[in-house]
Amino acid sequence: MNLFTALHRIRDEQDPSIAFDFSCRSAVCGSCGMLVNGKPRLACRTLTRDLPALIQLMPMPVFRLIRDLSVDTGVWFRGMNGRIESWLHEARPFDPTAPEERMDQATAEKVYDADRCIECGLCVAGCATAAMRPGFLGAAGLNRIGRFVLDPRDTRSAADFSVLSTGEGVFGCLGLLGCHDYCPKDLPLRERFAYLRRSLAWNLLGLGGRKR
Ligand code: SF4
Ligand code: FES
Repeated sequence: MNLFTALHRIRDEQDPSIAFDFSCRSAVCGSCGMLVNGKPRLACRTLTRDLPALIQLMPMPVFRLIRDLSVDTGVWFRGMNGRIESWLHEARPFDPTAPEERMDQATAEKVYDADRCIECGLCVAGCATAAMRPGFLGAAGLNRIGRFVLDPRDTRSAADFSVLSTGEGVFGCLGLLGCHDYCPKDLPLRERFAYLRRSLAWNLLGLGGRKR
C-alpha cells in the first residue's frame, strides 16, 4: 500500500477531518509532498512496506501551512517564477505563422530534462538554506533558470539573472544537496548548479557564454 492509500483509509475509517493534498496519484501533479519520518517524499510514490512500523507524517516546512499535511506550494512557486520571469525572452516579436525553430538534439534534450520538474517542492522542503533564508530560489528555481540559460531561443545568459550571483541564488547553496537526494524526478540538480556557476563565471570574466 502506498501512503496515499493509507491516508485515504485513515480519512474513511478514523478521521474524516484530516487534510492532505493529492490529484494525480502517479507522481505527476506534485501536490502530495510531505515529510515522511523527517524526509520529503511524495505520498503517492511511497510504499508503507518500505517504511518502519512507526510512520510519522509532517507537513513540508518553508511553504505556508494550510492544515494538517496540506501546504500551499502555489504561492511559493508563483513568487519564484515571477521573480525570474519564468517565460521565454525572445529578441523577435512572436509570429504564430513562422516555421518551427530548430534546435540541436542534445540541447533540446537538456531543456526537456529541466522541464520535467513537477513543482512538488520536495527539493525546497529538504533544503537547509531555504529553511534559513526565505528569499532563496531553491533547487526548483535554479533548475528553472538553468532551463532558460540552456535554451538558445531565450536571450538571457546566466549573468542576466541578477539574483543568481547572490546568496538567494546559486551561491546561497550550502552544498548539502538534499535537493538532489529527494527529487522524485531524479533531475540532475547538482550538475545544474555546477553549470550555472560555470556559466556565471564565464559571463562575468568576459570569457564567453553571453547570448547578447
Ligand atoms: Fe520537485 Fe525535483 Fe522540481 Fe524540486 S526540482 S520541485 S524536487 S521535481
Ligand atoms: Fe500527484 Fe502524488 S498525487 S504527485
